[in-house]
Amino acid sequence: MPNFTINGITATVPDGTTILAAAHTIGIEIPHYCYHPKLSIAGNCRMCLVEVEKFPKLQIACNTVVTEGMVVHTETEKVRKAVTGVLELMLIHHPVDCPICDQAGECGLQSYYMKFGLHKSRYDLEDKVHKKKVQDIGGQIVLDAERCILCSRCVRFLQEITRTGELEFFQRSDHSEISIFPGRKLSNNYTGNLADICPVGALTNKDFRFKCRVWYLSSVESICPGCSNGCNMVADFKGDILYRLKPRRNDAVNDTWMCDSGRMEYKKANQSRLLVPVLREGGKPVAAAWEAVLSATALRLREAAEAHGPGSVAVIASPQSSNEELFLAKKLAAEVLKTENVGFTPRAPGDGFSDDFLIKADKNPNAKGAQLMGFTEEGFGRIVKAISDGKVRALLLFGNVLSDLSDAEVESLLSKVPFVAHIGTGDGTVSRAAHAVLPSASFAERGGTFTNIAGRVQRFHKGFAPRGKARNDIEILVGLAKRLGADWKFDGEESVFKALSEASAPFSGMSYESLGSGGQAVAEGR
Ligand code: SF4
Ligand code: SF4
Ligand code: FES
Repeated sequence: MPNFTINGITATVPDGTTILAAAHTIGIEIPHYCYHPKLSIAGNCRMCLVEVEKFPKLQIACNTVVTEGMVVHTETEKVRKAVTGVLELMLIHHPVDCPICDQAGECGLQSYYMKFGLHKSRYDLEDKVHKKKVQDIGGQIVLDAERCILCSRCVRFLQEITRTGELEFFQRSDHSEISIFPGRKLSNNYTGNLADICPVGALTNKDFRFKCRVWYLSSVESICPGCSNGCNMVADFKGDILYRLKPRRNDAVNDTWMCDSGRMEYKKANQSRLLVPVLREGGKPVAAAWEAVLSATALRLREAAEAHGPGSVAVIASPQSSNEELFLAKKLAAEVLKTENVGFTPRAPGDGFSDDFLIKADKNPNAKGAQLMGFTEEGFGRIVKAISDGKVRALLLFGNVLSDLSDAEVESLLSKVPFVAHIGTGDGTVSRAAHAVLPSASFAERGGTFTNIAGRVQRFHKGFAPRGKARNDIEILVGLAKRLGADWKFDGEESVFKALSEASAPFSGMSYESLGSGGQAVAEGR
C-alpha cells in the first residue's frame, strides 16, 4: 500500500495501482484515449503524460505504477505543453468534421481540444491524408476511418472481450488505418460497445446516429429488461421518447458492456404501446376513463369470487414486472382476492439463445424476483388447466406473453374465461383478447427493482412520466385493491420495497439506500 503525492495531495493506494487509476480515485482527471479500465494497457496515445519527480522524462500515467514516496504533477507547464503537442499531432490529419459528426458533444477530441488544444492548425487542409468514410462494417457499427486516432481500444475489445478479432490496423505511419479484413464483417453479439469505447467519431452506432444531438438528451440509470442478466445501463431520452441504451459500469454484473439485442430494447418502449384504458363492450374495445376500468375490473373480480368461490379468480404475474409490482400482485391475490391461483409466465419471446458471457436464455429481467415472491411456473400450469376446465371465471393477467403458447392458443385459452383484465405496456394477443385493458408504464416511465438471475437486486429509475394515459403498475394495483375494500397506504415504489423487505426473507435488511446504484445480492435460503 504505497503512499504517494499527486498535485500536493497525499494518498495511499493498493499495490499495483497505476498513476492514472490512483488519480481517478481522488478526483484528479488525467486526459487519456487508449486507456480503458476493462481492457489491457496499450500505452500508445501518450495523452496521459505526467511529471514524476526524480524521473528524467515525462511518464505515461496509464502504465506507470505508483511506488512508495512517488511525487506526481499533472498540471505543470511541461505536462501541458507535451499534452498539447500530442493533441496537435493527432489532429494533423483529422478531418474538420465536427459539424457533421454524430459524436459531437461526447467526443474525446472535442473535449480535450477545448482544455488542452485551442491551437491554430499548422497544417494545410489540402495536405491531410484522406481515408475511407461511412463504411458499414456490420453489426451495429459505421466506421469513418479518417476520424480514427489509432488508440486501439476497438482492436483490444475484439481480441480480449469477444475474442473475434474483426478489426485491425493496416498500412504504416500517417497512412495507418483501422479496418476490417477483406470480405469479413463484424460478427459478434456485442458490436454496439465499439461505439461506446471509441473515444472519437470513428465508430458510431448505426441505429442512433443522426437521430438526436446528444446535448438534447437526458439520462436515467436503469437496468436492461432484455434478459435475466440485468445489465446495468443508462437510458437516454428526450421528452417521452427513448433514443438509446448504453451500458453503465457494474463489475459484479456486466463490467462496462451490454449486448446488441439489449440495446434495441428501447424500441419496445416507444412502439405498439397501450396508451388508453379500454373496456370491451358488446365485443368491441372502447376507450374508457381509468375510474370506469378500475371499478369494472374490481367488480368483476369480486363477483366471480362471490359467485364461484375465490378459486375461480386467478392472477398470472409477469417476470417483466418489478419486485415491487410482484409483491403487490401477490398481496392482492392472497389478502384481497384470497385466491391461491397464482403463477407466472416462465418465458418471454425470443430464441432462448445464451452465451458464456452476458446473454441469458431467459429473456426476462425478473423471473428470479417472481420466484422469490412465491410465483411459480407450476402455478401457471395449474391456472392454464383450470382455465381449460372452465373453472376460472375472472383472470388478472400481467404482460402479453403466456409462456410459449402461440397467439392462436392464447386466444383460444382466454376465450374460455368470462372476464380477463390485462395490465401491460404493449399491444398484443392478450390485450386484444382482454375485457379490460389497464395500460401500464414502460421501464423508463417508472421506478423499481429487478432481481437478476444471480439474485442481485438492482434499481431502475423513472426517466419521464408514463406516455398517454398509461399508469405506473403500483398505482394501478393500489387503485384496484382500494376498490376491492383494502386499505393500502403505499406511496410510490420505495414504500412498497420497504414493505417487501419487511415481509420477504430474501429481501430482508435491504433498502433503496443499501442497494445504491450497484445493487445487492439476496441471501438464498434466508
Ligand atoms: S476506431 Fe476508435 S477505438 Fe478504434 S482505434 Fe480508432 S479511435 Fe480507437
Ligand atoms: S445480456 Fe441481457 S441484460 Fe445484458 S444487455 Fe443483453 S439483453 Fe440486456
Ligand atoms: S492513456 Fe496512457 S498512453 Fe494512452
